Amino acid sequence: MNGSTSAGARQATPSPSLSVFSSVFLGPSSGGVFDRAFVGCLGPVHSAARTASAAQLAQALQRTRKRTLGLMQAWQNAMPDLSVPPLPGMNPPLWEWGHIAWFQEWWTVRNRQRHLGTRSASSGADFDASLLPDADALYNSSEVAHDSRWALPLPNLAGTQAYLAQVLERSLEQLQAVEADGQGESDEHLYFWRLVLQHEDMHNEAAVYMAQDLGLELPPALCWREPASGAAVAQEKPVGCSGGILLPEQAYTLGHQGPGFVFDNERQAHPQVLAAFEIDAAAVTWARYLPFVNATGHALPPHVRCSQGVWQAQRFGQWKALDLQAPAVHLNALDAQAWCQWANRRLPTEAEWACAAQQLGFAWGQVWEWTASDFAPYPGFEAHPYRDYSEPWWYHHRVLRGACAATSAHVVDVRYRNFFVPQRRDIFAGFRSVSL
Ligand SMILES: [Fe+2]
Repeated sequence: MNGSTSAGARQATPSPSLSVFSSVFLGPSSGGVFDRAFVGCLGPVHSAARTASAAQLAQALQRTRKRTLGLMQAWQNAMPDLSVPPLPGMNPPLWEWGHIAWFQEWWTVRNRQRHLGTRSASSGADFDASLLPDADALYNSSEVAHDSRWALPLPNLAGTQAYLAQVLERSLEQLQAVEADGQGESDEHLYFWRLVLQHEDMHNEAAVYMAQDLGLELPPALCWREPASGAAVAQEKPVGCSGGILLPEQAYTLGHQGPGFVFDNERQAHPQVLAAFEIDAAAVTWARYLPFVNATGHALPPHVRCSQGVWQAQRFGQWKALDLQAPAVHLNALDAQAWCQWANRRLPTEAEWACAAQQLGFAWGQVWEWTASDFAPYPGFEAHPYRDYSEPWWYHHRVLRGACAATSAHVVDVRYRNFFVPQRRDIFAGFRSVSL
């Protein structure tokens, strides 16, 4: 998560509408963010995981775990010693996987106030001991400094897998108890299971972008999300991918109260007065981005090159022809702003992005999209029990909206606020623009 890969991968850098619930990942022919075969979502897509029942969550947690275990195996195949360098955007893989288990155990197994949801304590006497000795000293992302994670006496791969399995089993038992108590539809009672599901999904996305950054080969089926119902389908000219969308002057309501699961930083609903604006119907493509590089000499993003006059992109260590109609990716916020200046355009504010995304012609979900907005609390913000999800990152992170092709369908939601420092190029991020 942002805050929680946030405090996981993200702290690494000191992370009535259509719905998607499938967490099926694509087969080997899919191109993810690297070609236009997968064009993501159209309009105001919401995640069905946010309103999932106890029974649905039990299934979703097991599907997500299948992907986690698949990624663990794939990482071990590609990098047998799992020796990731201590870089700002990285975490030791064994730490990431143990932390997934720790987070699930902390909130859904050890927390005796789990039924209180957002009103639960964050820590203290109502939290039982871990199954794993010293688990808090190893995996509590709020306490374990990023740089120290390489020197911790972590369990080995087999030990980490055993911890993951034991915690999931106990977490599912507790979830079953919620259902048995007749609370299998309760937002408060299910809050922590919905949170830990998305937390694991977000760390899985981090495992994909870390592999891309290191040039490790991963099976595409573990990397890219399948387009779900309501998603745009592959076509020569995807709907809404040319031209712009005109929005009139209006008071748009940013933020929401649910029903269903809500991240603390998405609350509260509040009006934003927007002047009329015209916004791209889709993220800026390579065909629009590369002429700026040619004209200005601006540095190319990582994983792209021009070889003997042919543009190529590197996908998990393999160089392939670049699809010029695919969204430009691995751009940081400064690259996006420089392009806008050259093109006489600007980045959308977060409110403009969210407002435009209510239009059915608005295509998104292939790349995270930088906005012009600092990550900041909405009026009336109150931290949820996982206090480090949002609060530590205000103002020095930038809001990204949307999703990328590696984002689990559980997380894909038009209301979701992602946030990273503006310098990050390792994530699957691009942008769209607004006319001046
Ligand atoms: Fe985390």
